Amino acid sequence: MDEEPSTNITPLRNIVLIGFMGCGKSTIGRELNKNLGYQLIDSDHAIEEQTGKKIPEIFAENGEDTFRALETKLLKDMIKQQTNHHILSTGGGIVCREENRALLHQLGFVVWLSCTPEDIYERTSRNSNRPLLQCDDPMMAINNLLNERTPFYEEAAHLKISTSGLDLNEISCGILESARYHFGSMPEPTDPPS
Ligand code: S3P
Repeated sequence: MDEEPSTNITPLRNIVLIGFMGCGKSTIGRELNKNLGYQLIDSDHAIEEQTGKKIPEIFAENGEDTFRALETKLLKDMIKQQTNHHILSTGGGIVCREENRALLHQLGFVVWLSCTPEDIYERTSRNSNRPLLQCDDPMMAINNLLNERTPFYEEAAHLKISTSGLDLNEISCGILESARYHFGSMPEPTDPPS
């Protein structure tokens, strides 16, 4: 009998948050960290730490492609290190690369947090740390990027939750309930909560 080819894919049991800028990934990541005890990794923060540069600096000095390559490297490193029982909050554009969408799946249960363009505008207009929205018409940029990315979020996600009009606790409970169902159980964290 032929042996199964080795695919080197180990299903990991992380909770991965994807979604557009301003849809609440960081806030919900912190809430899940509090409720579940899994350590939180924020991909933007991790890249800033690794490069010693802020995201707008990376975009301005090295370009968006370099930033996207850093995102891919981060996902690959997490898989290589078999990072498990963590919450990963990702940058809004991480789904744009096909390769990343497959890597996100390998990392665990992928939750797409969505909200209305109006909520995104309202939440992102408070600061200037998102290079893709620093333009004359941020609302148009939001709508264009949303149109472009929605099929990618759909493809990458196991679960979609709208964060418009729901409170933090409802969202967190919904994610945990679905993650338990997806994994069959929810193992204890291996590290103490950060
Ligand atoms: C980006 C989203 C940002 C950050 C970078 C690019 C995007 O993260 O990764 O500014 O392309 O949507 P947040 O979604 O956490 O704002």
